[in-house]
Amino acid sequence: MSVNTVAPTTQKDISTDASPGHHLSALPEALSARMRLPLKISNLTLNSRVLQSPLSGVTDKVFRRLVRRYAPQSMLYTEMVSAAELHHLKKLPEVMDIDPDEQPISIQLFDCRPAFLAEAARKAVDQGADTIDINMGCPVNKITKNGGGSSLLRDPETAIAIVKAVCQAVSVPVTVKTRIGWSDDAINAVEFAQQMEAAGAKMLTLHGRTRAQGYNGIARWDQIAKVKAALTIPVIANGDIFSVDSAVQCLLETQADGVMCSRGTLGYPFLVGEIDYFLKTGDRKLTPTAIQRLQCAKEHLIMLWDYKGLRGIRQARKHMSWYAKDFENAADLRDRLCQIETVEQGCELIDSAISRLKTA
Ligand SMILES: Cc1cc2nc3c(=O)[nH]c(=O)nc-3n(C[C@H](O)[C@H](O)[C@H](O)COP(=O)(O)O)c2cc1C
Repeated sequence: MSVNTVAPTTQKDISTDASPGHHLSALPEALSARMRLPLKISNLTLNSRVLQSPLSGVTDKVFRRLVRRYAPQSMLYTEMVSAAELHHLKKLPEVMDIDPDEQPISIQLFDCRPAFLAEAARKAVDQGADTIDINMGCPVNKITKNGGGSSLLRDPETAIAIVKAVCQAVSVPVTVKTRIGWSDDAINAVEFAQQMEAAGAKMLTLHGRTRAQGYNGIARWDQIAKVKAALTIPVIANGDIFSVDSAVQCLLETQADGVMCSRGTLGYPFLVGEIDYFLKTGDRKLTPTAIQRLQCAKEHLIMLWDYKGLRGIRQARKHMSWYAKDFENAADLRDRLCQIETVEQGCELIDSAISRLKTA
């Protein structure tokens, strides 16, 4: 089955015209003026201040294609790439596979060894990366016990050495994505961020949680505001951006230069585009209907099958369950989609759900 067999949900389908009744809170003029300005990351100019975060196991080429359709100017990120693995592998890993027309795109790397990261950054630039992002926020034990991800918050000397080495290795901007600290009693976001800027980082994305929080609790936007006030490079706010309203609220509270969407995009590749459109125009796109979301899910499934075969079907299960929500009998569909073995099975389930919704 080919992806061409489904009529894609296009930007036009999800209307770009805001209709009366879809205007909720207005966009404050001062914010709107700021958001219409291009975002400058050193010598790179972005025409959107809304970014799609790196999400391991999610933001592969297929997912990015869907996000890109609705957010043509936003910076997208690959899943994080292990610099150590890259050093030992003969061929490039699938997570570094990017389409020739994907720009602007950033490749995110993780490790704690400056030389490995510098080498990986050169390969990433050869692949077409517009920026190199260093992961200094991942909380997963497997990564932190080897000195990577958020453990760099406790080892600023190494973090500085990494940024310096990568800056020396490539001419594209080097950026850092990190958290506000290791734990509640070790919040060092401002100092750490200043050290990254001094080492040569050209943008900093801050997830407003500590490593100890994982993904729990509320993101501390007040900490992001402190970092924004302390740096001269752009600061991107991340954490709990689940809607247009939360993006606006976060930008107002933090005065950040942009926002990065993460879990809000799971099963909802429309989010980055929705926020971007509102920030630029002050108008809201119509929210996709359940039928449109399911059409997108079907397309996502078929694209994963085309790209990764059976492995893609296994990966599709979680995506499908994220799409199947907020309509009648969604839980039942979710359960079934979590067990699909073939692309046909998934398409049949989605088609029947769409038919039921059409006749309801
Ligand atoms: C499934 C999943 C995978 C993630 N993978 C990455 C990753 O590869 N690199 C990274 O910097 N952050 C990763 N994150 C963290 C997110 O990019 C983001 O910082 C975090 O989810 C906070 O934003 P949120 O509250 O809007 O979800 C991941 C998060 C999730 C839930």
